[in-house]
Amino acid sequence: MILVTGAAGFIGSNFVLDWFETNNEAVVNLDKLTYAGNLQNLAGLQGNDKHIFVHGDIGDSALLTKLLSEHKPRAVVNFAAESHVDRSIHGPEDFIQTNIVGTFHLLEAVRTYWNSLPEKEKQDFRFLHVSTDEVYGSLGADEPAFTEKHQYEPNSPYSASKAASDHLVRAYHHTYGLPVLTTNCSNNYGPYHFPEKLIPLVIHNALAGKSLPIYGDGQQIRDWLYVKDHCSAIRRVLEAGAVGEVYNVGGWNENPNLEVVNTLCAILDELQPRTDGESYAKQITYVKDRPGHDKRYAIDASKIERELGWKPVETFETGIKKTVQWYLDNQDWVTNITTGVYRDWVQTQYSAVDKSNAK
Ligand code: NAD
Ligand code: DAU
Repeated sequence: MILVTGAAGFIGSNFVLDWFETNNEAVVNLDKLTYAGNLQNLAGLQGNDKHIFVHGDIGDSALLTKLLSEHKPRAVVNFAAESHVDRSIHGPEDFIQTNIVGTFHLLEAVRTYWNSLPEKEKQDFRFLHVSTDEVYGSLGADEPAFTEKHQYEPNSPYSASKAASDHLVRAYHHTYGLPVLTTNCSNNYGPYHFPEKLIPLVIHNALAGKSLPIYGDGQQIRDWLYVKDHCSAIRRVLEAGAVGEVYNVGGWNENPNLEVVNTLCAILDELQPRTDGESYAKQITYVKDRPGHDKRYAIDASKIERELGWKPVETFETGIKKTVQWYLDNQDWVTNITTGVYRDWVQTQYSAVDKSNAK
């Protein structure tokens, strides 16, 4: 069996759902259920006794020790993190606690467990750390995409905390021999994406008749990957990745934010036109820029393609259409999570910037 952390969140839940489509191996899912964790994402696994959910924190050493000795996983996949850049700007502390201190406690518990394993199991064991392209910082317009050799230059409290966790993972391999793998992926999108992030926020706001907030001039570039393709990359790295190696994961889909938002509006215009016949693009509003906003991310995914034979299945065009359709088909899911604390966040983040209407 494998232990997966943070698997009630966006990518983790997609990973576990995807896992059981291709695999019958049991999964222990350890998740703290922060605002971003949602057991509804895993409703499709009800009655599947191979999925064992445990409510808890990766920073809880006693719980980790118990879970590891009880379930004896052959691998740990670490998704658990605070993941939203804007939240890290408003309040970095949770990011330091979970992404750095939490990862440290997880590594310590795993190291002790790994040391207790018989030699063959010790050799076969893997700790896969899921990280981000944001650790590499921001690219200029003409610079080549990030390779695994690109130097770390994180710019936000979020990316700095992820960079720190990557360094800890690396150090546990070099110092203690822990068999680690690290993946650094670009921006994901798809089902169960929490509507604080650009793509689900825009779909949600468009349908609700609200403004579609574009930070700054909307010319920042992100490299988009459909979440199911990220999941298949992680499975492939877990299966065949070389111990101690880093793999960049991306879909070669660079797009300026404004273009992404216009694409979303065009798809919505086709699938669920506004009652007044106008385009959803009319709702686009320029708001104050994100402090320290990274201009461009781009992933060079040649290594994982060449060495592990992984390739994404979706193009941006096919993936984004599926995503919009999923949100249209799952409005109950959106309604359930956009109440309560979500409303408080939207008030904190957008009440000041909405009024500025500044490019
Ligand atoms: P998310 O915010 O949707 O989910 C995070 C999950 O972790 C939630 O279920 C939350 O409850 C859980 N969690 C938070 N703190 C925890 C703790 N202390 N102990 C246990 N569980 C905890 O995030 P996501 O977008 O699914 O990202 C998952 C991972 O992938 C993160 O490590 C993130 O840095 C990385 N990543 C994300 C993207 C992206 O585009 N979303 C891209 C590349 C890498
Ligand atoms: O690159 C991988 C990273 O992608 C992950 O590590 C992060 O966990 C994930 O949140 C994501 O970070 P971004 O900051 O790129 O994603 P976000 O959806 O927040 O923003 C995407 C772009 O859109 C970014 O340039 C900021 C802009 N934006 C975002 C929001 C929420 C807007 O213009 N308006 C908005 O309201």
